[in-house]
Amino acid sequence: MDIILESPDYSKVPTLAGVTLIEDYDECAEVLRSKAFLQSGYRINKETLMKDVLITLDGERHMKRRRALARLFDDHKIAFLREQYLVPVTQHSLNEVAAMKREADGSIEVDLVAFIQRCLFRIGAAVAGVDGTETPEAADALIRQVIAISDGLVADWARDDGGAIVRKGEEAREEFRTQFYNPSRARRQKLIDEARAKGDMSGLPQDGMTLMMTNTDGSWAGDEDLLLRETYVFMVASTQTTANALTWFILRLEDWLKKHPEDRRLIAEDPEFLRRAAYDSLRLTITAPWRMRTAIEDVTLASGRAIKKGEDVALFFIPANTQEDHFGADAKDFNPHRKAEGQVPWGHAFGGGVHMCVGRPLVTGSRSLQGTTTADGTLVSTTRLFYAAGLEIDASSPPVRDSGTWFTIYKSVPVRFTKL
Ligand code: HEM
Repeated sequence: MDIILESPDYSKVPTLAGVTLIEDYDECAEVLRSKAFLQSGYRINKETLMKDVLITLDGERHMKRRRALARLFDDHKIAFLREQYLVPVTQHSLNEVAAMKREADGSIEVDLVAFIQRCLFRIGAAVAGVDGTETPEAADALIRQVIAISDGLVADWARDDGGAIVRKGEEAREEFRTQFYNPSRARRQKLIDEARAKGDMSGLPQDGMTLMMTNTDGSWAGDEDLLLRETYVFMVASTQTTANALTWFILRLEDWLKKHPEDRRLIAEDPEFLRRAAYDSLRLTITAPWRMRTAIEDVTLASGRAIKKGEDVALFFIPANTQEDHFGADAKDFNPHRKAEGQVPWGHAFGGGVHMCVGRPLVTGSRSLQGTTTADGTLVSTTRLFYAAGLEIDASSPPVRDSGTWFTIYKSVPVRFTKL
């Protein structure tokens, strides 16, 4: 199985022409935290699919929105989302697999990439505030729309024509608007009106859309479609990043277990094993090959590197996260037993500074930046259920890479379940 980290030739990437490339861990951290740099990614779609959404903003308006959204991810809410939407939906999806055709040895073959989408869409919909996903047809439609919108959101990193990908994303957005967004918004408006009339807002859904609709400080003041954009960006951010991370996690773990079969028992016996393993896999997983920032004044980094006002920098988290002086001599390898003392175990996987991922506690299980928690995040909860169902990589059919982007992601990973 080929799970080696790729380092494509970025000099061929048109959107990186004239941009300063930064690969050093400490330099990336400093740029992310510095007030002298502003977010400047999403160049192809900043005025369309991504217009005015949280991740493209800076300044006070950005911070106000972030502070409001952070309320969705306290420990209690994370546990509720996990127990209410992730575990039962994953279990339900496994039950559906159990009813499928079996091989001669009793195992059932499944494509992991598509299967993960079925497990994650519901928790994403619950976080974003999207209803109407109960039937399998509706779930499939939502997943298809979210994937097409997601492709449009990450068009900056496409190898193919980014403009055409954005247009397809816009078509999917229109389907999403009609089928899911408009009814979900109307339902919330009714609930909010009723709650206001009663003078008691405590029973309202606790999701992104309700939070934005009840916000009174003007953070989401804007054009009519702003809430639509924030909702689908949230839906994409809460599913597609995790789906990619989960696929990579399973591939790395299976590769490790092939070489270290004695560790397989730790999955069931040591709750910390999968958590630490997930953090180390996240360290090696990118949600985007690089993150863009632009300097708003002349800056000299602690390393001595001078950056001029107006200069664009692209931050590369994989070289940074595999730096030996931070993560040890085997930093390029996945090691579920890694103890990187004094480091954030997933490195820059969730970014840093004001744009650091708001959904990180949901993924890692808690707010702790050291990963000290007794709760499972989305990656580990799902993986535990997969292994309890006897997940194994299908050695006879290799994973298929997606060649359309500068991301290292998979289109298809054949696996089998042996204990369903
Ligand atoms: C493995 C899973 C995930 C990874 C690796 C990841 C990674 C990231 C990264 C690197 C950023 C910073 C982007 C930048 O600085 O330009 C980010 C931002 C963001 N993430 Fe995540 N993310 C994940 C899951 C989630 C989830 C589950 C949610 C929501 C439930 C979410 C919502 C967001 C949002 C809204 C932002 C924008 C924050 C801002 O600009 O202030 N992410 N994420």
